[in-house]
Amino acid sequence: MKALVLNATHQPLALEERPALEAGPGEVIVELKAAALNRRDFWITQGMYPGIKPPVVLGSDGAGIVSQCGEGVDRNWQDREVILNPSLEWGDSQAVQSQAFSILGLPRDGTFATAVSVPASQLFEKPAHLGWQEAAALPLGGVTAYRALFTQGQLQSDQSVLITGVGGGVATFALQFAVAAGADAWVTSSSSKKIERAMEFGARGGFDYTTDNWWKEMAKQAGGPDLIIDSAGGDGYAALLSLAAPGGRIVNYGATAGPPGKLDLFKVFWKQLHLVGSTMGSPRDFAAMLSFVQEKQLAPVVDSVVPLAEANHALDSMRSSPQFGKIVLEI
Ligand SMILES: NC(=O)c1ccc[n+]([C@@H]2O[C@H](COP(=O)([O-])OP(=O)(O)OC[C@H]3O[C@@H](n4cnc5c(N)ncnc54)[C@H](OP(=O)(O)O)[C@@H]3O)[C@@H](O)[C@H]2O)c1
Repeated sequence: MKALVLNATHQPLALEERPALEAGPGEVIVELKAAALNRRDFWITQGMYPGIKPPVVLGSDGAGIVSQCGEGVDRNWQDREVILNPSLEWGDSQAVQSQAFSILGLPRDGTFATAVSVPASQLFEKPAHLGWQEAAALPLGGVTAYRALFTQGQLQSDQSVLITGVGGGVATFALQFAVAAGADAWVTSSSSKKIERAMEFGARGGFDYTTDNWWKEMAKQAGGPDLIIDSAGGDGYAALLSLAAPGGRIVNYGATAGPPGKLDLFKVFWKQLHLVGSTMGSPRDFAAMLSFVQEKQLAPVVDSVVPLAEANHALDSMRSSPQFGKIVLEI
């Protein structure tokens, strides 16, 4: 098999020939058809992620065909078309992941390879309406957006939601899911082109978060949103506290721009805001996300498709985030 291996940070991943994988007890081997990039992969190559232990095959998202079932695995999985839930050992609680939780693609070898070994518990049938590239784009971003919006954010169809940095992989899913749920969805972006794309996907409107007082413009046009989904944090977070509707909720699943410089607790308690964290999702969230995608016949937005051997170039492009949606690797 071939695998793209991280041997050291700040270096390109190396395409290496490796011995064929053998399925251990409770595990399966999946021959991958496609994988997808997440910002996590970029952070890891830059040394900006905890617990980096090279050599490791990166990649949390993948779709393919089960080629081998280990001891104790239901043989019905053999030859089935599957996608992989990248949340490993979530545990029994719906509120939070267990201490043993980890994500496929560090420390366990991931999907930037022709084959991957995973516990059979991570397998889910590939949605029939999705092609391989779309299916591979779905898992990590899809489950993160689903939990942030619905499980943690409690979004209702008669509510409004603001999704910040809509060009991001997770944010694009959040927009699609919010629109499909019937909510009033608004977005921010640093790019007017991405705001236009978002409106093609059903956003009511959008604002450039790099301009001063963009939130006042939104407050004028739409009022404060009931829910804000954010993965940027940073100094821009102050505007979200000002903008949120009284009694509103702000769900964070990332902090791309670092911690907020100033957190105005007066706004938090006076407006009775709920500041909520969200990470990936439980197996229940994953199954619910898949049902939702199937029921609404949604397809992930694929920004671009590149061959596995060109993944380094694609990862490097994430530095300036030109993409709208997911970057997929064809295997
Ligand atoms: N907790 C979890 O489970 C989890 C899961 C997935 C991702 N994450 C984290 O969430 C973040 C996004 O991940 P992703 O994979 O969706 O990344 P991505 O596809 O690389 O998204 C990058 C986008 O972030 C937006 N952005 C950057 N700086 C911003 C700012 N100051 N304000 C608002 N938006 C900003 C930009 O949107 P525009 O181009 O529209 O300006 C950019 O396109 C990362 O920090 C990632 O580590 C966490």
